[in-house]
Amino acid sequence: MNLSIHPLWHALQVHAARCQAHFNLRQALQVPERFDSLSLQAPHVALDCSKNLWDEAVLEALVQLAEVAGLPQRRDALLAGQVVNLTEQRPALHAALRAGYAPRDPHGVAHPVARCPELDAGVQAMLALAEKLRTQGRFSDVVHLGIGGSGVGPELALQALQPWCKGGPRVRVVSNMDGHDLHQALQGLTPANTLLTVASKSWTTAETQRNMSTAQAWLQSDPTVRWDQHCVAITARPAAALQSGVTQVLPMPEGVGGRFSVWSAVGLPLALAVGSQVFERFLAGAAAMDAHFSQAPLERNAPVWLGLLDVWHSSFLQWPGRCVVPYHHGLRRLPAYLQQLEMESNGKQVKEDGTPVCYPTAGLVWGEPGSNAQHAFFQWLHQGTQRVPVELIAARTAAHGLPGHQEALLANALAQAQALMQGAQVQPGQLPGHQHFPGNRPSTFMLLDALTPESFGALLVLHEHRVFVAGTVWGINSFDQWGVELGKTLANDLLGRMANGDVTGLDAST
Ligand code: F6P
Repeated sequence: MNLSIHPLWHALQVHAARCQAHFNLRQALQVPERFDSLSLQAPHVALDCSKNLWDEAVLEALVQLAEVAGLPQRRDALLAGQVVNLTEQRPALHAALRAGYAPRDPHGVAHPVARCPELDAGVQAMLALAEKLRTQGRFSDVVHLGIGGSGVGPELALQALQPWCKGGPRVRVVSNMDGHDLHQALQGLTPANTLLTVASKSWTTAETQRNMSTAQAWLQSDPTVRWDQHCVAITARPAAALQSGVTQVLPMPEGVGGRFSVWSAVGLPLALAVGSQVFERFLAGAAAMDAHFSQAPLERNAPVWLGLLDVWHSSFLQWPGRCVVPYHHGLRRLPAYLQQLEMESNGKQVKEDGTPVCYPTAGLVWGEPGSNAQHAFFQWLHQGTQRVPVELIAARTAAHGLPGHQEALLANALAQAQALMQGAQVQPGQLPGHQHFPGNRPSTFMLLDALTPESFGALLVLHEHRVFVAGTVWGINSFDQWGVELGKTLANDLLGRMANGDVTGLDAST
């Protein structure tokens, strides 16, 4: 169906014109009920969408649009493990990875996410290996190799759950083919005490393969090291991994995309650092958000709200992106994680059937942690000529005991949302123009009680499903990524040419 010719699409365009021209956030928030109707409590995450340029009428129309797009049916198909990735004819099974940790329903209602015994077994095998290695205590250090979803998920998770990293090895993550990355990671390590975990679903990714062979050579510079005992592979191509001489192989399910894979064996570096019990708490928080996504009505459903806001901002208000500012040091890689999750999933120009879309899809996702970001690009957010929705993520309490820091951090996060919303007129004695803040700039606030394994899991799933919601309304397949292939092919061609100097057929610039 071409949703853009549906009357609801037109109605939303009319709403968009109204909101662009007349919406006044400051005035809108004078009505106390606005906060109640445009904020909600999801598992582990309080979500405030009341500082966005929308209202209940817009939300209602967007929910209706999602229904016309078949969101409820598509959500059920996703969670039931049906094929939703049509170009690759696969299900998208990330929710099944945590289905075993779903909250018990007091009314005995079956959990809506289908269990998959093979996936359960994979997670259990990973946790068992992590426990075994932690108990043995043979490795003081782990170097994890993986890029994109095979790297940034574990990297973010290790940072977010740093206070829980106890009783296991120290873990470093290396992604880049730039040798500085691996070189620095190996500094101070000794081969005899180091384990390599290598995650690559395809087992062909150039960065990971190159880093692995260099790290293998480094390990084997100690003649007592047996490569097969110092490396664990995590892949959907076990035969290829075995050919690399690796004998310990954990399966990466074919039906789980890299950017959705931190719950799978790709989480091994995290499980090694925090232990299986903490990892299971992470899965439980994720499963709680799955349950909310599947059971809450669309009108009060956090991932649905965020996905619909993305559609509203991009396709109707025509804003080119969104800025993500986590006010928590543990979430400093969240913008990078979300960049891959959202831009690789929904950065598409064709619908599922291959025909072009006629509206903007996913925008640019970018950001930096607060309060650092305030001293970099917040000038642009407050007084630049473009309006960009900002997302602020904070926790009520901190894991450190340092006096004063958390209160100041929270005050800054709240103040930025307030300033973006209300702006400020020039006061007597101030510089006209320069000290004027236009305000009326949208933001969304996500508040956790604390950054814990549970809330961190819930936060990631909130974003996974948001991506799916927006993709569904746009009619695109959020689970493939054909757009990354061309550059890889050309890089291989150029690598060959660099060896033999052949420039035949190349354009002058290249
Ligand atoms: O090139 C993009 C991509 O395929 C991502 O989708 C993926 O997360 C990353 O590369 C790593 O892929 P792999 O796990 O196969 O090494």
